[in-house]
Amino acid sequence: MINIALPKGRLGEKVYALFEKAGYECPSIKENNRKLIFENEEKAVRYFWVKPSDVSIYVERGAADIGICGKDILTEYTPDVYELLDMKTGICRMAVAAKKDFYDDGQHTLKVATKFVNCAKAYYTAKGRDIDIIKLNGSIEIAPILGLSDVIVDIVETGTTLKENDLEVKEEIFSISARLIANKASFKFKTEAVETLVAKVKELL
Ligand code: PRP
Repeated sequence: MINIALPKGRLGEKVYALFEKAGYECPSIKENNRKLIFENEEKAVRYFWVKPSDVSIYVERGAADIGICGKDILTEYTPDVYELLDMKTGICRMAVAAKKDFYDDGQHTLKVATKFVNCAKAYYTAKGRDIDIIKLNGSIEIAPILGLSDVIVDIVETGTTLKENDLEVKEEIFSISARLIANKASFKFKTEAVETLVAKVKELL
């Protein structure tokens, strides 16, 4: 049995469709209920829907053998897992954004609001820029509008959220896509099953 942690939401549904096409279907997952675990014994797969930012925790600790996780989470939390495949979906970028008229003159400590504290710290440390991190948990775009921060470090996908809040990208930090990750022990003990699945999914990308 391969245990697969899928990120709850649109990305997870897209990825499940790929797994289904690759021969790892689990019809009960399509039932309209609030169950979180689905199994197809015949195909030897069990899927779990988990919060996207928790996928790497399930995989790192072996509660799931494999999972689908954004490169943003992998960069921020550096879980001890194998990254086996770029799924070429869930594409977006980590960026610095601010109000259109904001210009960093480098004279003051820069106030940075973000969910991605480690990514932001690493980026500004490499630039030698002094920052004051304000850790938020969501709706980061509000911070510069209300004067809580000068800039934000956040995910930009379509750019709509920034545009609708009169903000703009100032600097790009790195690009992001969904990755297939594996627990290290599972990869050792279920090598063939995991490698076969990865090869079949890869063929579809
Ligand atoms: C993410 C991100 C931005 C938005 C970007 O938020 O933090 O707010 O998506 O997408 P866009 O460029 O297509 O507008 P998410 O929906 O994860 O919610 P959050 O406010 O909890 O971060």
